[in-house]
Amino acid sequence: MKKILLTGGAGYIGSHIAVSLYENGYFPVILDNFSNSERQVINGIKALTENNFSLHDLDCKDPESFDKVLEAEGRIDGIIHLAAYKAVGESVQDPLKYYHNNMTSMWAVLDAMERLGIENLVFSSSCTVYGTPENEVVTEETAINPAFSPYGYTKQACERMMEDLHKTNSRKKQIRLRYFNPIGAHPSAVIGELPIGTPNNLVPYITQVGAGWREQITVFGNDYETADGTCIRDYIHVVDLAEAHVLSLGRILDKSGSSLETFNIGTGKGTSVQEIIDIFQEVNNTPIKVVYGDRRPGDVPSIYANADRAYKELGWSAKYGIEDCLKHAWHWQKTLTKPGS
Ligand code: WQD
Repeated sequence: MKKILLTGGAGYIGSHIAVSLYENGYFPVILDNFSNSERQVINGIKALTENNFSLHDLDCKDPESFDKVLEAEGRIDGIIHLAAYKAVGESVQDPLKYYHNNMTSMWAVLDAMERLGIENLVFSSSCTVYGTPENEVVTEETAINPAFSPYGYTKQACERMMEDLHKTNSRKKQIRLRYFNPIGAHPSAVIGELPIGTPNNLVPYITQVGAGWREQITVFGNDYETADGTCIRDYIHVVDLAEAHVLSLGRILDKSGSSLETFNIGTGKGTSVQEIIDIFQEVNNTPIKVVYGDRRPGDVPSIYANADRAYKELGWSAKYGIEDCLKHAWHWQKTLTKPGS
């Protein structure tokens, strides 16, 4: 059974990928220092993988962590590198936290691959690499503009590290998946998003308002040049996103040679902040109190994916719609107990 190392595998996206890997015959190996994830997620992963995974509580910024994992596991057939901080707004407030964590961990992954002879890498990149795109619908060939947030810049830098390594003819097969906005939770409601403290992202904040954990949601700006004045994003179900990683591994694991490929992983549909709030209330029959505030530094007005290449080359497309995402997010929220209550 092929072993796939998931850095940041105890996180929101990583936990769903661990389950998808198991369901597709891989053995997930989670490397996580729980700096941005809750340990309770491990119980959910155990349940959904019938305990067919391993966990290494280590820091992927430390090169030795990879030696320890390989020694313990005996083999690592590929790496999915997810470990990173990912809140656009927070990165504007604390750039050095993002530069240190996101770029050092990427370096450590590539360094380990070189030292330990690991040839396959799928990288969790982001649509934020496009900065403020000329056209709101982006393809993988869309010009990379200056990043609009330190978070986006760390993803640009990480993509560049992969490209520079590729140019050395290093025998690596690398895929960069540019995520759009992952939301929702596993349909079983056994795993989902567990933000630590105040959620930076829109949907977990909405579900916490719906659950009465928070009084209201502030819409960060309704004066953008969009139909309803609020920002537009491409919201993708986290399980659809996880499946894209399984298909990416299938594309490179048994190949030889050297490659670097990039795929947008989005639905191809833009949805505004206001629409997300309205759809959530409708499908879950749960009221959400809204106030309108100032714009959030680092936000781009509108971006969503042209994901044709992923469909053509990976055979991937999003299966869930916005309504499913928001129903699953709500089902998951209802399983949670407010911290400190
Ligand atoms: C979405 C919209 C906010 C909270 C995310 C990930 C990032 C990357 C891209 C993967 C924005 C508005 C939010 C709130 C609000 N994905 N908002 N009130 O910034 O697009 O980034 O997708 O790499 O990692 O974080 O997502 O959910 O923070 O914001 O009005 O309380 O919702 O201003 O317009 P974002 P988000």
